[in-house]
Amino acid sequence: MEKFSDFRDKGTGISPFMPIPNPDDDKVLMKYLINPIVFAIKLPFAIALVPLLLLTTIVPQLHKLLLGIYLTVFFNVKQVEFLVDGVKKSNTKVINAKKPHINDIVFINFSSPLDSLALDLTSQTRNNIFLYIAKDGSIQEIGSPKAAFIFALTGATSIQSNNVDESLNLQKYKNKTVFLIIEGTTTNNKAILKFPKAFNLKLFVETNKSQFKFKAVNIKSHPTYLTVSPIPQSLHSFIYKNLSSICFNVSYKLKLFDDLGTSFTEDNVREKMSNFGRLKLISEDFDVDTKARFVKSYNRVKR
Ligand SMILES: *[C@@H]1O[C@H](CO)[C@@H](O)[C@H](O)[C@H]1NC(C)=O
Ligand SMILES: *[C@@H]1O[C@H](CO)[C@@H](O)[C@H](O)[C@H]1NC(C)=O
Ligand SMILES: *[C@@H]1O[C@H](CO)[C@@H](O)[C@H](O)[C@H]1NC(C)=O
Ligand SMILES: *[C@@H]1O[C@H](CO)[C@@H](O)[C@H](O)[C@H]1NC(C)=O
Ligand SMILES: *[C@@H]1O[C@H](CO)[C@@H](O)[C@H](O)[C@H]1NC(C)=O
Repeated sequence: MEKFSDFRDKGTGISPFMPIPNPDDDKVLMKYLINPIVFAIKLPFAIALVPLLLLTTIVPQLHKLLLGIYLTVFFNVKQVEFLVDGVKKSNTKVINAKKPHINDIVFINFSSPLDSLALDLTSQTRNNIFLYIAKDGSIQEIGSPKAAFIFALTGATSIQSNNVDESLNLQKYKNKTVFLIIEGTTTNNKAILKFPKAFNLKLFVETNKSQFKFKAVNIKSHPTYLTVSPIPQSLHSFIYKNLSSICFNVSYKLKLFDDLGTSFTEDNVREKMSNFGRLKLISEDFDVDTKARFVKSYNRVKR
């Protein structure tokens, strides 16, 4: 992959937008026989359950139950674990109480359509809204978890250029749970990008903290070759790939940091998001524009 060395971080060697190949992709029997059969069996059920899934949002408990089953059967997610930094795993009472709820603005990093469903599953409310920071520093709305699912598949660069209304009034998100994609785009889950340069985190937090509580959730999925979508792809290919496979071994670990506290700086938030430096923070050169260039050259080489 030397062709893309321009898009590799000098310090860490990480190439944050490179798709991760699925080692199963070149198993012939799988690809031409088993996968199509599995797909044909799962598809009718997957379609039939969608209306039910949407209808049940009014009964959160039932919705979550169904969504969990849906994630397992159709998207191979066997587990979604929610943890809180500094709280023991066994302390489920505290953990449940800290799950994202109304009037939270939750900073997230984002790498897969499935991330939005995993977040929806762990949120305490049914009014979950996704926003992202556009490259001009403004906050833009994506919408429901379903819209965020699609956003991830677009490679999360294409709606940057149009649809930019200058400043969203956050008042409109009162009584909702807001998930804010801080990097402004999807990555391959290997590093945390700088926030879009024009974004003023301090101002954003200072002027909104009386109305909202700020948290950060670090999303980790494993194995990443079964989840991430850093490069734009069609909904069809995503659905086909995922529904046609039978490996129920994707796991999600969401870790919440709720004491972002007083030292609300970008470095602080990024450090938390990186699980205290366990994940690499890469240089400033990587942002949405870099990604757009990467996608262009990647698609050119692939073709
Ligand atoms: C939010 O909920 C509170 C309490 O239920 C209510 O008083 C308030 O009007 C709601 N605000 C909005 C913007 O919906
Ligand atoms: C919240 O943050 C936005 C975006 O930075 C800003 O425009 C707005 O003035 C802040 N305050 C309120 C109350 O919306
Ligand atoms: C689901 O789709 C993504 C994106 O194309 C792909 O990387 C992943 O391998 C698929 N999942 C499975 C289980 O095949
Ligand atoms: C997940 O399942 C697939 C198919 O059964 C297998 O090839 C792969 O090694 C498994 N991956 C992990 C991380 O368990
Ligand atoms: C988000 O950051 C965490 C922590 O550094 C990392 O482990 C995870 O892979 C990233 N997740 C996504 C969705 O990019």
